[in-house]
Amino acid sequence: MKKITSKLTEAVAEAFEAAGYDPALGTVTVSDRLDLCQFQCNGALSGAKIYHKAPIMIASDVVEKLSARREFSKVEAVPPGFINLTLTDGYLVEILNEISADENLGVPQCEAPETVVIDYGGPNVAKPLHIGHLRSAIIGESLKRTARATGRTVYGDVHFGDWGTPYGLTIAEYKVRHPDWACFREDFDPSKDTVPDIDEDEMNEIYPFASAKSKQDEDFKLTSRQTVVDLQNRKAGVYDLWKKIKEVSVESVKRNYERLSVDFDYWYGESDADVYTPELIKILTEKGLLYESDGALVVDVSEDGDKITVPPIIVKKSDNSSIYATFDLDTIIQRERDFKPDRIWYLTDKRQNLHFTQVFRCAKKAGLVPETTELRHLGFGAVTGPDGKPYKTRDGGVMRLSDLIDTVEQAAFEKLKDSEYISEDRREAAHKIGIAALKFGDLSNQPSKDYIFDLDRFLSFDGKTGTYLLYTVTRINSILKKAGIGYDEKARVGGIYGGDRELALLLALSGESYEKAFNDMAPSALCESAYNIAAAFSKFYHDTRILTEEDADKRQSWLALCALTRRVLVKLLDCLAIETVENM
Ligand code: ARG
Repeated sequence: MKKITSKLTEAVAEAFEAAGYDPALGTVTVSDRLDLCQFQCNGALSGAKIYHKAPIMIASDVVEKLSARREFSKVEAVPPGFINLTLTDGYLVEILNEISADENLGVPQCEAPETVVIDYGGPNVAKPLHIGHLRSAIIGESLKRTARATGRTVYGDVHFGDWGTPYGLTIAEYKVRHPDWACFREDFDPSKDTVPDIDEDEMNEIYPFASAKSKQDEDFKLTSRQTVVDLQNRKAGVYDLWKKIKEVSVESVKRNYERLSVDFDYWYGESDADVYTPELIKILTEKGLLYESDGALVVDVSEDGDKITVPPIIVKKSDNSSIYATFDLDTIIQRERDFKPDRIWYLTDKRQNLHFTQVFRCAKKAGLVPETTELRHLGFGAVTGPDGKPYKTRDGGVMRLSDLIDTVEQAAFEKLKDSEYISEDRREAAHKIGIAALKFGDLSNQPSKDYIFDLDRFLSFDGKTGTYLLYTVTRINSILKKAGIGYDEKARVGGIYGGDRELALLLALSGESYEKAFNDMAPSALCESAYNIAAAFSKFYHDTRILTEEDADKRQSWLALCALTRRVLVKLLDCLAIETVENM
């Protein structure tokens, strides 16, 4: 179905036209002050310049044409020229029932088919996931679901870091520690020789150790550089050990993502992209974009009007190895070939802004994607402690994602320990509630801003929290159960009886938030909508005796409203990748 503001825009555009003005002025938006009016149109203000007329006169002309329409109970021209609109209860009810019957529950669908690739993983082989991977995973998963909910074809790709400098360091250190391993012999033969099993703890410890070592030990640094080159040439032994390391890493990374209900359609890595490097070099060479600088091969990507220096992008290092940027360019070739995407979105922390500026400019300059393809980077802020500094473990180390999840689940478990209401397995409920708290605590912020990791607040039953939202759903569950109504019930809302108007309006507006979340890459719009609906529901629930209402029509209508509220909330939460619990 069309979203409500589009329907109202049509009505108001007709009125502009009937009054002799350009219908394009009729755009209707949701009012910023729902207490004053529900919707507004500011077209008369823009019309003033075109028609050399006071905006209030244009607004009054349009209001006159609108007053006969059935949609509005109140239409006002307000100085200097706003048009304020309020819906009739009858029309509001009509919209609610349309949403209830709509297969997409009122979520507006994109007009033309569209394909979006979202790159939101970025874990690195041989390194455990840490708190820095949290935001890309949960914001990305939410954007993926939101894009799907709006009718788009979406592919999520994890884009493993698995082919650059760190793997040279890691493998070089393995060689120091296990010189006897067959994979380090020159005559290693993968058809006969085997690589020993990799111990996950040693693997996780080895990279930071090797990285620190390379800063002091020049010989080690040189060896590890050579190892990267060997790896990228897929030299037997080195490559086989790498495969083993990757296997162990991928398994561990998948386990962590699974706990967050984060899943990817493609588990590609830089190593899969690297096969496109020759093609990339060919294109860049043919277009005359590639030149040598200090032995490296680079492309100039600065533009007139740059406010900061955008240095040339390095495509090949002086030892001919490929690096981070090379793989991102390669991957664009692969994605264009496999998916012909309309948009490719990347999620990383905002310190990578410059990198993506360079990559996108180079890709466009080289024509790796059509000019119209949207290449967009969402650089998000940090998760911080109360001091505003990046969140750390007690001893000041980087927080592993698995430890963070454990902490959150345990805190939720403690909180639920004495609750008599939980009907499902307590650990399972604590998992869902903890993850909901964690995700909502993150997603309710503007992605580009830092936020404070405050578990007590996230787990609070009051305020804008995931816990409060899950709790609201459980309250509706209990009403529906008592009334013997199924959760998917599509009963008709019969009317507005007072006390339910705000909730009804917010439900009617829920579809708008999906579009906003998608366009701004900001799931916070969904959080806002879900929270406002939950708060309006709580108020309605508090003020109204639903189950004991004697007027059968009223009672039926309110129960239908409860059922619709539940469906709308569950869908919003699903787009945040938050699962609900039966009771709590
Ligand atoms: N592995 C990278 C890192 O740890 C993040 C990758 C993000 N995605 C991308 N296409 N560059 O920083």
